[in-house]
Amino acid sequence: MVEFILNDQTVRTRKPASMTLLDFIRYEQHLSGTKIGCREGDCGACTVLIGKLNDERIHYESMTSCITPLGNAAGKHVVTIEGLNMVELTPVQQAMVDSGGTQCGFCTVGFVVSLSGYCLTAEHPTKEGAISAIDGNICRCTGYKSIENAAGDIAGQLSKKSQKEQTGWLIKKGFLPEYFSGIPKRLQKLRSYEIPENGQVMIGGGTDLYVQKHDELLDTEEVSLVFDKPDWNSIHREGSEIVLGAATTATDLMESEIMQQIFPDLHRHLKLVSSTQIRNMGTVAGNFVNASPIGDLTAFFIALNSTIVLTSPGGHQRQMLLKDLYKDYKELNTKPGEHLTQIRFPVPDDQTRFNFEKVSKRTYLDIASVNTAIQIRSAKGKIDDVHLSAGGVGPTPKYLSRTCDFMRDQALTPELLPQAHEIIQSEISPISDVRGSASYKRTLLRQLFYAHFAELYPEIFEDEIPA
Ligand SMILES: Cc1cc2nc3c(=O)[nH]c(=O)nc-3n(C[C@H](O)[C@H](O)[C@H](O)COP(=O)(O)OP(=O)(O)OC[C@H]3O[C@@H](n4cnc5c(N)ncnc54)[C@H](O)[C@@H]3O)c2cc1C
Ligand code: FES
Ligand code: FES
Repeated sequence: MVEFILNDQTVRTRKPASMTLLDFIRYEQHLSGTKIGCREGDCGACTVLIGKLNDERIHYESMTSCITPLGNAAGKHVVTIEGLNMVELTPVQQAMVDSGGTQCGFCTVGFVVSLSGYCLTAEHPTKEGAISAIDGNICRCTGYKSIENAAGDIAGQLSKKSQKEQTGWLIKKGFLPEYFSGIPKRLQKLRSYEIPENGQVMIGGGTDLYVQKHDELLDTEEVSLVFDKPDWNSIHREGSEIVLGAATTATDLMESEIMQQIFPDLHRHLKLVSSTQIRNMGTVAGNFVNASPIGDLTAFFIALNSTIVLTSPGGHQRQMLLKDLYKDYKELNTKPGEHLTQIRFPVPDDQTRFNFEKVSKRTYLDIASVNTAIQIRSAKGKIDDVHLSAGGVGPTPKYLSRTCDFMRDQALTPELLPQAHEIIQSEISPISDVRGSASYKRTLLRQLFYAHFAELYPEIFEDEIPA
């Protein structure tokens, strides 16, 4: 039984928890305002807001319902367009009308829901922030300028928002219907719900699985939903290590004070990963286990020298360096039934610097042609330790071990880079595909390798990037 609040109605259903939330909303609840575009998480036409109770407040996030399992809505508040404009046009809808932000209208619902999510969450609203909130919504008609203007208009209106009584202010100004004020109490009273935990197919956010195996998943009872497993979303420090639950999302990472303190460029780096909706859904473990050679979080955490904790069905735990998880294309070094429960990495010290680079055909909402991350510890002009990862240059995410071995204990000088780069080229084996030719990917990795040093040590390497 899956139980949740859909707009202002409590719903209980025995439909399979693996059914998509989109199909449930449109075909079981007959709320057809939510549109179907790509069914792959790419266009944002099916965006809904999902609110989860955290203490006494609800934290809302935008998600693409076409690749969200129904079970991931259990115990939460799901908001579709029908649950926003219950009386008249909301200020978000009005701003879209006033700026000419809608033409055929197919994408408009998704934009309005994403922007309404921004209204609910923005602490310091800006036009840039509002535009970021729609980075997972695609429009084929408007050319975007008018939608950006609507976003600017909304941000302007939100600048008067009360920080203390956010929901109350949004209700008073017509952004939200009145019923929102009663949702926290209603969620607290929701009966405990059952979500499947013992099926063979483990689903985190579903952002890889529903794109790859959509039809197979729809009716199966054989799933295990881990997105909301207690303790699987936490980020904390244990002695000299940072420990992440397996279901931590990219958004959780971006919002974590612990992570922000360690990685000052975290926001800039993770904004290159997918879109707002997908960052709200996709988990770190899902990224690792999907084993795509271009997984961004995988490249990020390999360079942090991360360890993963694998747990067997009987509860036995073992640890492995993330870089050792990959045997061959999509082939993992795991035993049958083992799943990933934790990610751990050493807290970097003051002498340690980290950088992530990614090149894709589009800057945002695109997978990488090549990505790479590096962590370097250096004091007194010498490299004490270094970890370098690269994606898109072989059948698996790569840890460039020979390059790292070569660079350790070397002086941090411009002369080092061409020598290290020669070793990099001997460690990679890119193939030509839709994301670029093999030689293009080799050149890309060279540029990104030099870019790491220019970014981290501009005083030494600023003029060193080859033409
Ligand atoms: C539109 C779109 C854009 C994207 N853009 C990017 C991008 O820019 N960069 C990028 O790296 N990725 C991108 N992705 C891919 C995807 O979002 C990420 O790989 C995400 O981290 C996957 O996590 P998930 O929880 O959704 O995985 P799921 O789809 O739930 O699962 C993926 C795999 O991991 C397994 N699994 C999940 N959790 C566990 C666990 N705890 N233990 C063992 N196995 C587990 C599942 O069984 C499955 O085999 C994009 C996807 C979409 C749809
Ligand atoms: S239909 Fe395109 S993102 Fe869901
Ligand atoms: S208005 Fe037609 S797709 Fe956006």
